[in-house]
Amino acid sequence: MVVSSRVSIPDAARLVDAVLERSTGKNSFIHGESHWQRVAAASLTLLPETPGADPALVFLFALFHDSMRLNDNYDPLHGPRGAALARELHGEAFDLEDAEMSLPAFACEEHTNGGIGPDPTVRVCWDADRLNLWRVGIIPDPRFLSTEAARSEERMVESPGGKSHDKCGS
Ligand SMILES: [Fe+2]
Repeated sequence: MVVSSRVSIPDAARLVDAVLERSTGKNSFIHGESHWQRVAAASLTLLPETPGADPALVFLFALFHDSMRLNDNYDPLHGPRGAALARELHGEAFDLEDAEMSLPAFACEEHTNGGIGPDPTVRVCWDADRLNLWRVGIIPDPRFLSTEAARSEERMVESPGGKSHDKCGS
């Protein structure tokens, strides 16, 4: 059982299954299930150094943010579709006060639009995603990282020879 001050996830495996059942992008090597797992794993390294970030909300982001991609290239509405799926499963596979749903939804909707996260939870979400840019040979640009923890050198340089990038989201 995953519980935080905001979120209740009585059965994480059931939640993951519910997302996989509906996901349009789960099989992609770049943005599919293995990427969601890596985002969740990266967030575990950032959370202890980011006071105020909610681990369960970050888990929801890792699971939903790329779940509804239609392709690995230009798909500007995949974030909003991921947020819509989260809203659909809200109250079913996980529970969260209605008013609190706006935070994970915002993190999903805006994750490709860049910028610095306005809230510690959103900052960890977006940085965990960006730290996974190494999978496509890109070293995250520190200007687009929101947390001190993510800006540490060993976390940014996962892929020797990777090129820096001028995009914010992945
Ligand atoms: Fe992503």
